[in-house]
Amino acid sequence: MSIQAKAMQVAAKVVPADVQIKGLRVLHNTKRKLGLTKTPPVFVESLVPDVSTLALENIDVSNPFLVRQGQSEAYFKRLRQECPVHYAKDTPFGPFWSITRHEDIKFVDKHHELFSAEPLILMGDIQGAQPELFIAMDPPKHDEQRMAVQGVVAPKNLLELEGLIRERVAEVLDNLPLDTPFDWVSKVSIELTTRMLATLFDYPYERRADLVRWSDIIAASPEATGGPSNDDNFFQAAADMVKAFSTLWWEKKARLDAGAAPSFDLISLLLSNKDTKDMVKNPMEFLGNLGLLIIGGNDTTRNSMSGGVYALHKFPEQFAKLKANHSLIPNMVSEIIRWQTPLAYMRRIAKTDVELNGQTIRKGDKVIMWYSSGNRDEDVFEDAHKLIIDRKNARNHIAFGFGVHRCMGNRLAEMQLRILWEEILQRFDNIEVVEEPEIVQSNWVRGYSKMMVKLTPVS
Ligand code: HEM
Repeated sequence: MSIQAKAMQVAAKVVPADVQIKGLRVLHNTKRKLGLTKTPPVFVESLVPDVSTLALENIDVSNPFLVRQGQSEAYFKRLRQECPVHYAKDTPFGPFWSITRHEDIKFVDKHHELFSAEPLILMGDIQGAQPELFIAMDPPKHDEQRMAVQGVVAPKNLLELEGLIRERVAEVLDNLPLDTPFDWVSKVSIELTTRMLATLFDYPYERRADLVRWSDIIAASPEATGGPSNDDNFFQAAADMVKAFSTLWWEKKARLDAGAAPSFDLISLLLSNKDTKDMVKNPMEFLGNLGLLIIGGNDTTRNSMSGGVYALHKFPEQFAKLKANHSLIPNMVSEIIRWQTPLAYMRRIAKTDVELNGQTIRKGDKVIMWYSSGNRDEDVFEDAHKLIIDRKNARNHIAFGFGVHRCMGNRLAEMQLRILWEEILQRFDNIEVVEEPEIVQSNWVRGYSKMMVKLTPVS
């Protein structure tokens, strides 16, 4: 635990967590004014150079505009072919290794004794605050914390959730305009993921938009992922989130203490587990783990919902195949997740010198596992850039990672997407994307901020 986190844990006994986080902002801004912290980079979009014009050592895949400018495929293809374990020396995020082939990514992800997920899984660092989250912890602490929360997505819980999810999907789809174009991202993808998160957390339904707002701000920091500037908002969002969840926590605890039966939402599960029942007293761990589930369940599922519509628009023969055979939906869901790969990478730090594909990665080096590239590896996926809904090995994708950190919400995400497509096919014959979607600025989230579509109802 960092000194800052320890100090906050001690302070939590007397100072509310949200006040501490606001205090951190003041400290952080003061340190910045005194020149004691680095000023975060500001990314201004300019034309991304054609990768064929660059020397290998000048290729920088941390550029947060690569996907937006349609260059990501070409950059990673070149690295996979010419230098699959590639070192970038001089980037806004410092030097890092890029691991771009499917096999090598699995190797790194699997060997947590060689590559550490601590202290953070994003390319850069978040200054002034280091939330503690188990995605960025190594075993054994990782395993303890994961075990405490994974009941929320256990098969029994998912079965109970299925009916509720279907009801909510139907309600959203039945209220879409049929005669005029609208934004699929806000009206469907965001709306559905927010409803889902509110259910998982048992968060007040009428205030569910908070969850997405916090998640968007926390995940898009420029120094960590090349997102747009939002420094002050980060601390405000973190403080608001901790305050809202602490209130929910204490309310639930009071109900449990009064003898109410425990429910299956995430906070109740944390409260009922001996390893996590005092988590609220460590604000950074509390913020980290709740934030992890919100961010984990937000950007990812949301962008797979939009990505599926976009992919079927780009490959209309696949939409026709789907309409002719609805039993392809489960395989298509895996293929959509492969094609979209909503989180481009996870980061590791080498714990020791490691030889990989002819390169020596030194102890302490930063290593980026590019899932987005592994999922386009032609040695594993034929015509990898195409969406092929009956692709035989679609489930071999690595968009959920591999090894001890493999996505905890994968079954939930697949279920949400399966239900969405089952319900779409009951209602619509076509979803036409009427203009090119807007792509988010990030080197981590591969997502859409706006996608205008027009629906054709089933005749
Ligand atoms: C971890 C992707 C949906 C919660 C991860 C990782 C990836 C990922 C790449 C890291 C894997 C690694 O380091 O090896 C995705 C994708 C999703 C999705 C592509 C949807 C299409 C969800 C949902 C939730 C969730 C719906 C929660 C409700 C988590 C958690 C972890 C995680 C808690 C940390 C697991 C650990 O460290 O042990 N996810 N995710 N994810 N995801 Fe997901």
